[in-house]
Amino acid sequence: MLYTDFQKTFESRLGTRADLYPYAVEYHRVRFEQTIHHLLHSILKQMDALIQKSDVSWTNTEEIVSDVLYCGEMDVEQLFALKIPDELTADRDFEEVKTKLYETKYYPIGEHLNYISFPPALERKAFIRKHFSRFKEESNFCDLGFGPGVLTAFILEQDTSWRAAGVDISKDCLRHAERLLNKKEVSERGELSIADVRSLPYPDDTFDVIVAVEVLEHIPDPEVGLAEAVRVLKPGGYAMTALPVQLPMLMHLYDFDTPDEVLALYEKVGLEVVDFETKEFQRQAGPFMDTFALSVNP
Ligand SMILES: C[S@@+](CC[C@H](N)C(=O)[O-])C[C@H]1O[C@@H](n2cnc3c(N)ncnc32)[C@H](O)[C@@H]1O
Repeated sequence: MLYTDFQKTFESRLGTRADLYPYAVEYHRVRFEQTIHHLLHSILKQMDALIQKSDVSWTNTEEIVSDVLYCGEMDVEQLFALKIPDELTADRDFEEVKTKLYETKYYPIGEHLNYISFPPALERKAFIRKHFSRFKEESNFCDLGFGPGVLTAFILEQDTSWRAAGVDISKDCLRHAERLLNKKEVSERGELSIADVRSLPYPDDTFDVIVAVEVLEHIPDPEVGLAEAVRVLKPGGYAMTALPVQLPMLMHLYDFDTPDEVLALYEKVGLEVVDFETKEFQRQAGPFMDTFALSVNP
């Protein structure tokens, strides 16, 4: 499909809604230019149903783009003009990924925008939501590798008695996530800081729940990171983890080959898996799998 065809159909189907969701309209338009052709195709396919039955998708886009503009302290033109860093070499070196990718204004924004419609990101939220009822009042969470802070904010919004600490290696992520917690009015219950997941600044047995979603594959030694996470988890506490399988990328410094390898890692650090889901997703380079787990520290 050509952009002009997309634009014509998009505008005629959207009709008067364009006034209600200006960011959503611009976002979907610009994403076309950014090669996610297939995604917009699927949006067009669903549009009649979305417009007639529900406006969740537009509301969600609108809210997330508005959050991103606030967190990134920018306007919508600056957002669309933002350059995607593409200087990573094939060395897959932690310091290089950190300085050339995580420490950029783009990184938390790109990760945050995934929560509009990137299926694996939506599944992360769905998996966490599925288990909220297990967590007791006044639970103390720790979000390891919080990135844009979307999941930290999501957790804190569920229950006003919950608190969340979190670490990330990136100063840009810290700045972005702190602004997000502030915008969502949950920052009084959140304490985010810069640290490496392999060496956490917390005493043993501190947290009721640790969250390590799509972070352990970003270090060369996931077992070291997960063992450190278990150290700060109370006995009887829960670990919520997500790890991709067969998704080699320059910023992924460890590749898991099978779901069994992921399960073996949990067993090795002494976690007992309570719920384990695998989901297959498509991307241009081919299919890959994500795994989602809830485990207990016995
Ligand atoms: C794919 S993002 C995931 C963000 C978030 N957990 C989510 O699911 O929305 C991975 C995050 O891990 C962080 N990270 C990578 N290596 C790290 C390390 N050694 N210690 C702490 N954070 C790290 C990156 O800065 C990045 O924000």
